Amino acid sequence: MVPVICVDGPSGSGKGTLAQRLASHLGFHLLDSGALYRIVGFAALDQGVAWDDEASVTQIARDLDVSFVTTDLGVRVIYCGRDVTESVRSVRGGEGASAVAAIPTVREALLARQRELAVAPGLIADGRDMGTVVFPDAPVKIFLEASAMARAQRRQSQLQLQGEDVRLPRLLEAIEARDTKDRTRSVSPLVPAEDAVIVDSTDLTADAVFERVLSHAVAKGIVHLVD
Ligand code: DC
Repeated sequence: MVPVICVDGPSGSGKGTLAQRLASHLGFHLLDSGALYRIVGFAALDQGVAWDDEASVTQIARDLDVSFVTTDLGVRVIYCGRDVTESVRSVRGGEGASAVAAIPTVREALLARQRELAVAPGLIADGRDMGTVVFPDAPVKIFLEASAMARAQRRQSQLQLQGEDVRLPRLLEAIEARDTKDRTRSVSPLVPAEDAVIVDSTDLTADAVFERVLSHAVAKGIVHLVD
């Protein structure tokens, strides 16, 4: 069986950083499932389709022409041949993702695309429902938490690096609204899988989170120690 490590949790909990680090350390593939929802939201805007037009948005999800390219600038998101990384990572991109992610048929359309990525030597799956829905049999499931304030501060630094200056209260409000929406939606709500290990990163460095998760994966016997 191909080893899959699921990293679920809310926005800004440090999932992305942890997942990228695990993938490069272990030489595993990486699934950034949030980016898929962000691109669907972006593509809808691009085509003048409203986020609540379920049938049209589902068709967009089915036909999605997207690829992820690793460059010196990190992973770039290429949609229909255009580099749309900054747009999909923006605050508006997050709002679109959250809206389209609440549509059951959109989630269904993206299922097979996500499962296809579980190939040798292994996969790090970053998302909200990796351990509960997409890879329920994964041997390692991590649920990364952090306080809403810590997540808003991290998000602000990230956006500043991209040249977007957003005030903290607005980010905190957006994060809390998105959390409520993601945790209470009827399909694939953001909840830890029963067999997930919960890690609170509020007061931990990225290094400490990485070490903790790596030792857990080693203890589970699905990865060997890699220098
Ligand atoms: O991780 P992120 O901030 O890029 O995710 C953007 C949105 O997509 C977030 O509101 C929740 C949604 N999402 C989801 O519903 N399921 C996933 N597996 C990943 C993201």
